[in-house]
Amino acid sequence: NTPLTVLGLETSCDETAASVVRLDANGRVEVLSSVIGTQFAAHAPYGGVVPEIAARAHVEMIDSVTAQAMKEAGLTYSDLSGVAATAGPGLVGGVMVGLSFGKAVALARGLPLVAVNHLEGHAVSARLAADIPYPFLLLLVSGGHCQLLSVEGVGACRRLGSTIDDAAGEAFDKIAKSMGLPYPGGPALEKLAEGGDPSGYELPRALLGRKGFDFSFSGLKTAAARFAATVATEEERRDLAAAVQAAIARQLSERTDKAMAAYAQERPGQSLRFVVAGGVAANRAVRSRLQEVAERHGFSFDAPPLAYCTDNAAMIALAGAERLALGISDPLDAAARPRWPL
Ligand code: KG4
Ligand code: ZN
Repeated sequence: NTPLTVLGLETSCDETAASVVRLDANGRVEVLSSVIGTQFAAHAPYGGVVPEIAARAHVEMIDSVTAQAMKEAGLTYSDLSGVAATAGPGLVGGVMVGLSFGKAVALARGLPLVAVNHLEGHAVSARLAADIPYPFLLLLVSGGHCQLLSVEGVGACRRLGSTIDDAAGEAFDKIAKSMGLPYPGGPALEKLAEGGDPSGYELPRALLGRKGFDFSFSGLKTAAARFAATVATEEERRDLAAAVQAAIARQLSERTDKAMAAYAQERPGQSLRFVVAGGVAANRAVRSRLQEVAERHGFSFDAPPLAYCTDNAAMIALAGAERLALGISDPLDAAARPRWPL
């Protein structure tokens, strides 16, 4: 049970990322490096991620980003215990770049390969910076995903609810676009919402009477786009942004509220932990609403530091290291999986 030193690679969307993470026998985690080559400028003119441009950019950057991560960690490939690469879900052209690169390193150095589910990466991301034991209730909110999961252990997740249409980050991005904000819309909308008054706009509350813990953002998106076409002043824009942000935060917290009640009921007397992860976990309004709900239900509250909320390779390295610690690795012909539910 020596410490495991794992190179992680992440290329499933528009960030080319590499990281080296060390996991010791006591479960202590140390991020030795985390390098992110962002493709933001390449996609900005199109108002969203263009898969073909993303795949090409990953090809161009993966070498240098990985070399940088190794250099910052002060290690050579012979110091590694394994390689972890995102194998899906995501844009398949990009996934294949990182996964193939990871396979090449594994083959050349005789290292085990772990084909990591990107969502499992987000699920462990809060563990990069805090000691959060399993099990925990997880709200995973990113550009591609919006799910409530019961995380029981390494690779053992049970899905409690998910979105029936858009993901929360997708809703932020699409609404921001309809308001003329630059891509990526979530952070831009949060900035615009500062000091805004959310009370002036009546936005729909989705799936209110429905059983379970599913999400829906399409009604909100349509209503917000309608308002966006009518706002005239900068103040009105700010208020609309605040109203949209509040509506998304409200839906996330209402669903989490219900899930916490059910989760706690199944675990009388146990310590209850809640984690929010994914790009939308970077939003302060979302965080604070969720923290309130967690406190009300007696759950501990954790969110990853901002740098680990959005896509990064440290979370992939850690997810891989946790699997390696249990003796789990994947064959070198592991396939890229554009769709791969947890
Ligand atoms: O986890 P992530 O980097 O990529 C995916 O796996 O999807 O999440 C990106 C998403 C984007 O939709 C982005 O707009 C959203 O997270 N996001 C935010 C904020 N920062 C990133 N949404 C709201 N407020 C933010 N501060
Ligand atoms: Zn992600």
